[in-house]
Amino acid sequence: MAGSNLSVISEFLLLGLPIQPEYQNLCYVLFLAMYLITVLGNFIIIVLIILDSHLHTPMYLFLSNLSFSDLCFSSVTVPKLLQIMNSQVPSIPYEGCLTQMYFFLFFGDLGSFLLVAMAYDRYVAICFPLHYTSIMNPKLCLTLVALCLALTMFPSLLHTLLMARLSFCADSVIHHFFCDISALLKLACSDTSVNQLLVFVVGSIFVVIPFLLIIMSYAGIVSSILKVPSAQGIRKAFSTCGSHLSVVSLFYGTIIGLYLVPSADNSPVKETVMSMMYTVVTPMLNPFIYSLRNRDIKGALGRVVCKKTFFSLMAAHGI
Ligand SMILES: *[C@@H]1O[C@H](CO)[C@@H](O)[C@H](O)[C@H]1NC(C)=O
Repeated sequence: MAGSNLSVISEFLLLGLPIQPEYQNLCYVLFLAMYLITVLGNFIIIVLIILDSHLHTPMYLFLSNLSFSDLCFSSVTVPKLLQIMNSQVPSIPYEGCLTQMYFFLFFGDLGSFLLVAMAYDRYVAICFPLHYTSIMNPKLCLTLVALCLALTMFPSLLHTLLMARLSFCADSVIHHFFCDISALLKLACSDTSVNQLLVFVVGSIFVVIPFLLIIMSYAGIVSSILKVPSAQGIRKAFSTCGSHLSVVSLFYGTIIGLYLVPSADNSPVKETVMSMMYTVVTPMLNPFIYSLRNRDIKGALGRVVCKKTFFSLMAAHGI
């Protein structure tokens, strides 16, 4: 990599959120609270699913993977955001920036693939109830999770390596709250056409296809329910699918809107608000939407908590 005009930038400045100074503290508290809810909610789900053997089914194993992925996904951006909101010189080293970008893409994609696996799981459960256990056997589940991981590694590594080839010159101010791929591409002073093409192509493949697969699974579910209509079944199905679909649409809608729709008129404020949706809001909502309203999880919560208090009572009485 010879050449004297190569990047000498060793760190970037993250401008953070475009908010007025008087709201800075309010926002700080708000994001801190949202982050703590995300961590706690997802952590509880993972622990419950590990501890309670009633929940060792494909659906909940995917869910605990999703919770893990959401936990990591928001931990990639939110703690750094909280830190830069508090610091005078909100800088991030060049390597840190690329690392953040890599893990952001990695866990973002992982979550999106896991949502596909979960939608497929529900599709098989509802449309082929008699064959469910033989189709969704532990081997297939493990294969699906491994496939999600493998498919995720590829695009994030590709984007990060291509980003590492670019040189950055004078401008090191990122108008965003994390090292986002499109924000970094705007700063580069070498040719970014290959990167931009790949963001579009890889993004289309790895975002649009999962989204379509999810929509197809839910369409299959809805049509199979409508074939044998019962008022209660329909209400239950629509309330479950409706809440899943709303989170899925929020997640994919903002990502597609940001990265795949040509964005000449996107103001930084609009982009930031949209990024907040899928980096902060969806990882927080996922555990609630997918599980805490759900009877199995509530039962498990009861069982695990009761068992714990039972044992601690026994211990307290020296039994
Ligand atoms: C993820 O899913 C796999 C396969 O179903 C399961 O064995 C594993 O325990 C899950 N991992 C987590 C962290 O929940």
